[in-house]
Amino acid sequence: MAITIKSEREISRMREAGKILADVHDRLEEIIAPGITTLDIDRKGEELIRKAGCIPSFLNYEGYPASICVSVNDEVVHGIPTDSRKLEEGDIVSLDAGVIYEGYHSDAARTYGVGTISDEAKRLIEITRLSFYEGIKNAYAGNHLHDISASIQKFVEKNGFSVVRDLVGHGVGAQLHEEPQIPNYKPVGRGPKLRPGMTLAIEPMVNAGDWKIWILEDDWTVVTRDGSKSAHYENTILITEGEPEILSLY
Ligand code: MF3
Ligand code: CO
Repeated sequence: MAITIKSEREISRMREAGKILADVHDRLEEIIAPGITTLDIDRKGEELIRKAGCIPSFLNYEGYPASICVSVNDEVVHGIPTDSRKLEEGDIVSLDAGVIYEGYHSDAARTYGVGTISDEAKRLIEITRLSFYEGIKNAYAGNHLHDISASIQKFVEKNGFSVVRDLVGHGVGAQLHEEPQIPNYKPVGRGPKLRPGMTLAIEPMVNAGDWKIWILEDDWTVVTRDGSKSAHYENTILITEGEPEILSLY
């Protein structure tokens, strides 16, 4: 399937989905504290999503058993919430969530510190967030997709961290995962040309150490091979005639 260009009608649904998702993330941030379990986060997240009239898009996606991916410390993404995993002071936790509003998806992730965290962990979270903004400096119609990828990689590596290579961002819309795949590393000047009406989930996953990953026995949880911490930041954006519009942040 080719990369879809969204109509105004589709875009307005994705705007609404994004607003709701942004709010879900803001509300979840408020409950992050030592002692809560990763399942508490999932339960709260699902409740917020459903109360807003949306469907949690991750629940049962290819068999994934929860609404919110909760990934702690060396877990990169796709951590499965459980009532046995309590957040502890000094942890970092990534929350990835997706909602469907009137048939249209929005997808976004944030990483938070739990209580007081190390300066290095703070820097990892901040560089990951900022790398998204470095990426979307290139999210203009007429540019190549990999201009976004390359600038994320350059910024992350300049700051001494690494980008995960085996997982990518993606187009998003009527489906959670649409074309194109959006790597967080690549040479500039390649990849499809960006056009107004494309909606993309840009999602740098950044490791404090090496970029290599493993997948745990549960077939979902992605962890760093070297045990270093990892952060994730993601928003759904719209390519326009001018500046990119971030749909999942207000
Ligand atoms: N948010 C993930 C992504 O960006 C999707 C998670 S899939 C799930 O692609 F199955 F884990 F929910
Ligand atoms: Co995504």
